[in-house]
Amino acid sequence: MLRQIGGSISRIRTSIANAVSPMRRTLPQGHARCIAREDEHPSDPKVTTRGARVMATMKAVRIHRYGGPEVLRIETVDRPSPGRGDILVRVIAAGVNPVDWKVRAGHMQAAVPVKFPWIPGGDFSGIVEEVGPSVRGVKPGDAVYGKADLPADGSYAEYVTVPRAHVAAKPHTLDHVHAAAVPLAAMTAWQALFGGTGSPSLELMPGQTLLVIGATGGIGSFSVPLAVARGAKVIGVVRRSRESSEKAAYVRSLGASDVVDVEGMSAYDGIDAVLDLVGGEVQARAWAVLKDGGAMASTMGEPSDDEARQRGARGLAIWTQTSGSQLEEIAGLIDLRNIPVHADEVMRLEDVKKAHERLEHGGVRGKIVLRVAREPG
Ligand SMILES: NC(=O)c1ccc[n+]([C@@H]2O[C@H](COP(=O)([O-])OP(=O)(O)OC[C@H]3O[C@@H](n4cnc5c(N)ncnc54)[C@H](OP(=O)(O)O)[C@@H]3O)[C@@H](O)[C@H]2O)c1
Repeated sequence: MLRQIGGSISRIRTSIANAVSPMRRTLPQGHARCIAREDEHPSDPKVTTRGARVMATMKAVRIHRYGGPEVLRIETVDRPSPGRGDILVRVIAAGVNPVDWKVRAGHMQAAVPVKFPWIPGGDFSGIVEEVGPSVRGVKPGDAVYGKADLPADGSYAEYVTVPRAHVAAKPHTLDHVHAAAVPLAAMTAWQALFGGTGSPSLELMPGQTLLVIGATGGIGSFSVPLAVARGAKVIGVVRRSRESSEKAAYVRSLGASDVVDVEGMSAYDGIDAVLDLVGGEVQARAWAVLKDGGAMASTMGEPSDDEARQRGARGLAIWTQTSGSQLEEIAGLIDLRNIPVHADEVMRLEDVKKAHERLEHGGVRGKIVLRVAREPG
């Protein structure tokens, strides 16, 4: 087993060294038009007597304007078709991420200008239904997982089109619901800790100590075991609440050696690396624990240049890039059972409003996943 883990870590290193920046798609594609009323159910593709396929529909969540969870509507829309280099995936499950509700609420209008009506959702796991021209390496019927990129229509739907480069074979040991919990959170953790897409990272090494702020959430739940698999010691930081002791037990179960709340961070100093998933005041306080020459990465904006300079440290803003090759490596580690995947709650697509309310409210351990269709076979 130890040899297996060692082998997998060396595979991670090789893949990080070899990883290339993936093609990044910025133009909306596959936007579906509304053709029917809310809550209507989808129909199968219709085939004419000459065999030509005519318009098929699907069930999807859409928003027609920015707003609270109430703007999320279940509608029947045209099924998208894959363009050159794209695949059409029949979605079995869709993972829910904070960016989904932030875009829905209109908090990211400058960075992510969506075109209404818009289908939210990034993460998915499902079955390849159709491949577009020039697609190699996947075929209809393959089980894949991946991430649709903003501001295109997303994965809260029965079908989604995505670039081939943004998917990988689903981890064999996971069902679709758990596979859909992986893509954005695991890629973000990976890119922050190890890099691999050409952007700077913490370059975490065996024997170093990492502090993860926001350790119970989606990214935290992957960062802790990934860092431990790399041979680092991990201290988890959780938000103080009535469930603090359950949160601490959860983060320890992921492999953390120690768990503290934000106040408890002050007990540490000389930490090699900090991964901040919370931002603001909490991030500002974390500089005090970092050793001179250490590194702080944040998914919540650029850490202070002044603080970094004073300590001879590196401050890194993480912007996650979707990479099918990284998803392939992550699937490999999951299948070796080195990386646990925690779906805190699985909800029906129709319960998407509740899913957004819960994630916005906080207190989720790992991920919330929307079940879109029954697991095949
Ligand atoms: N820049 C990028 O490319 C990028 C990529 C992915 C994600 N992100 C952002 O990164 C952040 C983390 O993502 P995620 O998926 O891990 O989110 P998440 O699942 O919502 O987890 C957030 C974590 O932060 C904790 N937290 C919140 N406020 C806190 C506070 N004041 N003190 C201590 N802990 C606190 C939460 O604890 P409780 O649940 O107990 O509140 C939870 O553990 C999100 O804001 C997301 O939008 C950015």
